[in-house]
Amino acid sequence: MTQRVLTGITTTGTLHLGNYVGAVRRAIAASRAPGVESFFFMADYHALIKCDEPDRIEASRLQIAATWLAAGLDTSRVVFYRQSDIPEIPELTWLLTCVTSKGQMNRAHAYKASVDANLAAGEDADAGVTMGLYSYPILMAADILMFNAHRVPVGKDQVQHIEMARDVAQRFNHLFGRGEDFFVLPEASIDEEMELLPGLDGRKMSKSYDNVIPLFEGGSKALKDAIARIVTDSKLPGEPKEPEGSHLVQIYDAFATPAQREAFRAALRAGLAWGEAKQQLFELIEAEIGPMRARYDALMAEPERIETILMEGAARARALAAPLLQRLREAVGLRRFQPLQAKAAPQAKAKSALPVFKQYREADGQFYFKLNAADGGLLLQSQGFAQGREAGQWVARLKKEGVAALAQAPVQRAEGVAEAQLHEALQALQAAESQD
Ligand code: TRP
Repeated sequence: MTQRVLTGITTTGTLHLGNYVGAVRRAIAASRAPGVESFFFMADYHALIKCDEPDRIEASRLQIAATWLAAGLDTSRVVFYRQSDIPEIPELTWLLTCVTSKGQMNRAHAYKASVDANLAAGEDADAGVTMGLYSYPILMAADILMFNAHRVPVGKDQVQHIEMARDVAQRFNHLFGRGEDFFVLPEASIDEEMELLPGLDGRKMSKSYDNVIPLFEGGSKALKDAIARIVTDSKLPGEPKEPEGSHLVQIYDAFATPAQREAFRAALRAGLAWGEAKQQLFELIEAEIGPMRARYDALMAEPERIETILMEGAARARALAAPLLQRLREAVGLRRFQPLQAKAAPQAKAKSALPVFKQYREADGQFYFKLNAADGGLLLQSQGFAQGREAGQWVARLKKEGVAALAQAPVQRAEGVAEAQLHEALQALQAAESQD
């Protein structure tokens, strides 16, 4: 069976080299695997939660879309779209919101972190917290469940969100599914093997540390300048250098073949100057990134091309989302008007309201049956039979003949059950039986 893999990219800011190595390059490679159907999208509704600068939102979603395309995303294989082009997503968000418990949202990490920071600062717990931030996990659940994704590649910080998506999917399935599952329960997938790319100062590469190497912004000059600022030890040219533990080497590794890694280490141990090492690092990265940057610049100059690609992606996504949403609307009762009388009592409900016979075998090796009320309470208990067939025959007779068969049946009314209650249950079963 094909595995559906889905991931969203929040569109605030632009991507740096760490995002490229940790997310873009990996996701594109994974999307080429056989048996995988990938959905990548710009989470621009999520971006609105974090950013109230329209120009920044506009720029970021364009830049990020261009980045993914320039990096080699094959849109004939991957469904690539903007979240905000899929109106079914906010609609699903509402349906899910109505079955999500507030207590669970109180425990979401992102919200809790804001509350903790507020309390530490002596502020009101919810100061500056919008309903968008609070409901963030529900929108994310809708992103995932809308397309019944099996696997969601995310960073560790997002794992809780995937668990919340599973919970809400389960609750919805249970409440409205009537035995049918609308939603696949998604799994988070975290690639443990891929270390986060270190930044200029050796800490994780992140905008908030101001230690990033830009991906395309500023051209090859900006790349070169950033590499020049990578912090190294102060060993002089000619002095042997220890490659292990150097973050410059770690960045090199992310772009090098095993043979190149080996040679680079040997050269450093033999005294390669840091300046020369940085030049080699620049050339290595530029060889991979340079051609992408050219494609990026061309795409950025023709936004209509990207617009067309994304609208095609949205059409493909909606072709899947719309029919599912239609079923969900039906399931919760948002239906086309029709005379209420004319509709037969819903089948599944009528069935589930009936008492049920259960046959089973005990540890004594004998076969038994019992009758449970619709609410699960025990009504009737049989004696043991040597043959399962005998038990089955009695069940069939009781269903067919109802109360009439009761006198001869080797059964006992359960404690605390009135005779009338038992008769009613048997009559209901008999009526249902004669309808089938
Ligand atoms: N919250 C994710 C992040 O910040 C982005 C995101 C939004 C996402 N919707 C998603 C990721 C659905 C995976 C699946 O990284």
